[in-house]
Amino acid sequence: MKMLFAQLCKLYTFFLVAFATIAVGAPLENEIMNPNLKRANIELTLPYCPADHPVYKASLCNSITELMVYCGIGSADDPATTIISYMNCKPDEVCVEHYHAVESELDVPHATCTDTKNKWDNFDNPNAIACSGKTSYISGSKDIEIAIIIYASDGKPIQVDSLYATENDSMLYPINNNMHNYTNVLRNYNKETIQYCFHTGTYADVTAYATAWGISV
Ligand SMILES: *[C@@H]1O[C@H](CO)[C@@H](O)[C@H](O)[C@H]1NC(C)=O
Ligand SMILES: *[C@@H]1O[C@H](CO)[C@@H](O)[C@H](O)[C@H]1NC(C)=O
Repeated sequence: MKMLFAQLCKLYTFFLVAFATIAVGAPLENEIMNPNLKRANIELTLPYCPADHPVYKASLCNSITELMVYCGIGSADDPATTIISYMNCKPDEVCVEHYHAVESELDVPHATCTDTKNKWDNFDNPNAIACSGKTSYISGSKDIEIAIIIYASDGKPIQVDSLYATENDSMLYPINNNMHNYTNVLRNYNKETIQYCFHTGTYADVTAYATAWGISV
């Protein structure tokens, strides 16, 4: 509960500057050309708010199958009128946290249920760096957003020591430390090879999922 409250407070500071940038990017064409070339525009179950608190503020993954959506009344960033609404993913989806960078860079956290097949784990060697296969994305937009989320065996997000991605085998910065999620924006993306990696720093068995969104500009 403490952590939730802290997150919420952090979110409010974001809302002040980022409220206008929440709109979700226009869907791009889905195309899968070969197994290593994936679509870069996954928008499946999106967070939404109930009629009595209709204004979407932000969202996180409560678990691998459940979105936690912050919803309010009007544009005021008033904690007293903000509620948390829970939504389930569809059976073949997993929840991925990301910052949907539509207009600005990274602004408000979002969670989306996606059907990503980009899944890997560290079960073979829990203390080693664990990386996904290499993937290229097709995108109708110039820029893409990539995201990773890490889940513990109980299906809850779990922090790891480091999370990063490479593009054409070069490290992308920043590297995330002591987080359960990772987002980066790749400008002028043109089918470069992406690989996603994490290192737990513990011997916990964890599972990672990664996906990418095309960003409309
Ligand atoms: C990532 O996780 C941190 C907590 O570790 C949280 O504060 C942040 O909002 C999350 N980011 C996204 C994009 O959901
Ligand atoms: C990535 O590699 C491909 C193929 O070698 C090359 O065409 C492309 O320019 C590279 N992109 C970057 C950003 O280095």
